[in-house]
Amino acid sequence: MKIAVSGKGGAGKTTISGTIARALARAGHDVIAIDADVNPMLGISLGLGMDGTERLVGMRQEVSENGNSDDVVHEHTIEGLLARFGTDAPDGIRVLVASRVDMPDHGCLCCSVTADRLLREMKGDDRTVLGDLEAGIGVLARMEPGSLDVVLVVANPTPKSIEVARRAVIAARARDIEVLVVANRVADAADLERITAVLGDEEIVVVPDDPSIAHADAEGLAPIDLDETSPGVRAIVEISRRFAVAQPV
Ligand SMILES: Nc1ncnc2c1ncn2[C@@H]1O[C@H](COP(=O)(O)OP(=O)(O)OP(=O)(O)O)[C@@H](O)[C@H]1O
Ligand SMILES: [Mg+2]
Repeated sequence: MKIAVSGKGGAGKTTISGTIARALARAGHDVIAIDADVNPMLGISLGLGMDGTERLVGMRQEVSENGNSDDVVHEHTIEGLLARFGTDAPDGIRVLVASRVDMPDHGCLCCSVTADRLLREMKGDDRTVLGDLEAGIGVLARMEPGSLDVVLVVANPTPKSIEVARRAVIAARARDIEVLVVANRVADAADLERITAVLGDEEIVVVPDDPSIAHADAEGLAPIDLDETSPGVRAIVEISRRFAVAQPV
């Protein structure tokens, strides 16, 4: 199962990606989380903390600093990439930062590892992949058909966020990717109405505005670690159940 999370900057992509990844891992999935943002923060929402997240990003930066040296061994396989540049996150998740390093193409995966390329290479891989995409619709527009099973399009109840979500839905549909709209930070019926007025043809799930989620972010914690019973976290865990497969007992 390949799931990507898309939407405008600040809509809640990283919060939702990290929490769904943790919930699926707890449900027994073998989860690979891909942080495809140019400013990678998924480690925090996964529960790696500030230090763990910085280490993860630092490993990736090493490639950009030394990638042109003759001594560097480039990675050509997903397993090599995960082993060398990935980090273990709670609940058995493996997390990888996937943003393009600005240098000549070495024909390897490590220097040009974008989310769309990684997902293309992982077609047929039966692990659960959760991709936190960069803001906007650029990556979705480059996504090869068949690379993704579903895209969660996150929309806040603001006109700009809803407009980016509307474009993301169009880009996903053009590539035959299933869409689920996540109305995030909904405080009341009027908020939801703003979103349904534009995206009402799509299936919409609601995540309420939740002070505990904002608090987790301020503390550098995963929302699911701070309070897994808060309304926002519960709503996101509920979304994850759609993708959960029955595990053998
Ligand atoms: N349901 C919610 N309730 C309250 N706060 C929320 C909720 N969802 C997200 N937030 C807060 O909104 C802010 C942005 O969330 P997040 O970082 O997940 O968005 P993003 O789409 O990944 O942003 P960026 O485009 O910068 O990567 C964070 O401070 C987060 O804690
Ligand atoms: Mg983010």
